[in-house]
Order: sequence, then structure tokens, then C-alpha cells
Amino acid sequence: MPSTSPIGIFDSGYGGLTILREMVSRLPQYDYIYLGDNARAPYGPRSFDTVYRYTLQCVKWFFQKGCPLVVLACNTASAKALRTIQQNDLAKIDSSKRVLGVIRPTTEVIGNYSDSKHVGILATTGTVISNSYKIEIEKFFPEVKVFQQACPMWVSLVENDEYTGHGADFFVKKYINELIDQSSSIDTILLACTHYPLLHDKIREYTPADIKILNQGEIVAKSLANYLYRHPEIESILSQNSDREFYTTDSTEDFDRHAADFYGAGIRSLHIDLDK
Ligand code: DGL
Repeated sequence: MPSTSPIGIFDSGYGGLTILREMVSRLPQYDYIYLGDNARAPYGPRSFDTVYRYTLQCVKWFFQKGCPLVVLACNTASAKALRTIQQNDLAKIDSSKRVLGVIRPTTEVIGNYSDSKHVGILATTGTVISNSYKIEIEKFFPEVKVFQQACPMWVSLVENDEYTGHGADFFVKKYINELIDQSSSIDTILLACTHYPLLHDKIREYTPADIKILNQGEIVAKSLANYLYRHPEIESILSQNSDREFYTTDSTEDFDRHAADFYGAGIRSLHIDLDK
């Protein structure tokens, strides 16, 4: 039996570390376990069924590690797997467990950042095709017009450590221009993939200066703090030793080498094998 009850943070790879970093900064007292499914990343181009199957498998792993609460710090998994897990699987596995995503907390506030009410979403192909952002923003801010642009090359640039090189400029400029061409009134752009904060400087360079660029980390961390405040039945069972554990389904050497860029501090990860 696990002796601690950490918060589980999941991503297909490294991107979720940009979210974990903000959570740890806002809520340092809790224990956190991070899992990157690097062996099967990227999730962005995969089918609904595959992303759901992989995500569910990882969520079950977190539950075995004793996590009462798991955050899918991945927009693609939040878009393609979260609802089914919440509505169908939790009741069968353990109805006391909770799984949250990153799309809902972001869409709850995004309209507040925009004056023109024209918002741009940059995301993986999977997230864009799911239409999750359009559907969720419509619920909270029906007056906001949403423009989406898939950026299929960006996760690969980041995962392959090419995000600061000149090669990245072409694809950063291309997708930004394709988004801005959809509406000249966009005044707020959301980086709706947890990998994209690493491209922030280049994205800023090719985006008109009067357009705001939002990262999700702070928004999601603030929302988690609020969730824990509203759910004392979950908060009270979380262990609070400030422990952090990191797991990857691929090479720990690669993970540790890249992870510091996302997390902002050195990491020693452990390897796990999930049945493929
Ligand atoms: N970081 C994930 C997200 O937020 C996407 C990475 C991937 O395609 O696996 O969507």
C-alpha cells in the first residue's frame, strides 16, 4: 500500500512540467508525482481511441501509486480522453478518485483577457480537431469568437531540442501568420499546448506587439488551488512533505537532460514500463 497521497501530473512527454512548475511554486507543500509518456509521444496526431487508451492506462498507474487526484497537464489528453475517464471509467475504478484537465480552467477565464473578444488558440492537431476550446469557451464567454490554428511541427521542435535554433523560425512564423490571417481583431493568443511555453520567445518575436500571449501554467495552478479549497475531502487526504517524483516511459538520461528546460530545475527521473 502506498504510504503517501501525492498529486499526479500527467503529460505525453515534457510539456506538463511547465504546468507542474507553476503548481509547485503556488502550492509547494504537497507531494507530486510526474509521469511523461515519452515513449509514445507525441499524442497530438494520434486518434481519439489511442489517446484515450494511453491516458487511461497512465491514470490507472497514478492510482496504484496512491494519487487521489490526477491532473492531465496535456491539452491533447484533456481534449480526447478526460470526459470519458470522468464519466465512464472513474465509477468503475474508484469513485473517490478525481481526474482534472487543463482546458476547463483555461476556458473559464480566457474571455477576461480579451477586449476585442477575438481569441486565438494555438494547439496540436488533435486539440484543434476536438473543438474542445470552441465548445468550452462558448459556455463561459458566448460573446467570444474563437480562432484555432493547429501547429503540428511545434511539439517535435521542442521534443527534439530545436526550439531555439533558426530552423524553428519558419514554422513559428507560418502558424502565427495563419492564425492572424483568420482575424485582424485577435488581441489574445493562448498557447494551448503545454510544450509551447518553450517557444514563447520566438512566438513573441513573430506576433504583433499589441497581441497578448497567454501561457496556461499560472492559470491552471491557480485553478488547482481554488479546487483544493472547494474540495476539502480531497485536500485533506493529500500528503504534504514537499516530495517530487518524476517518471518517464522512455530513457531517463534523455528525460533528465531535457526536463530542466521545462521545469526550471534539475530532475532525476525513474523509468517505468507500461504494457503497450
Ligand atoms: N503537451 C501536449 C498538449 O498540451 C501535446 C504534446 C503531444 O502532442 O504529445 O497538448
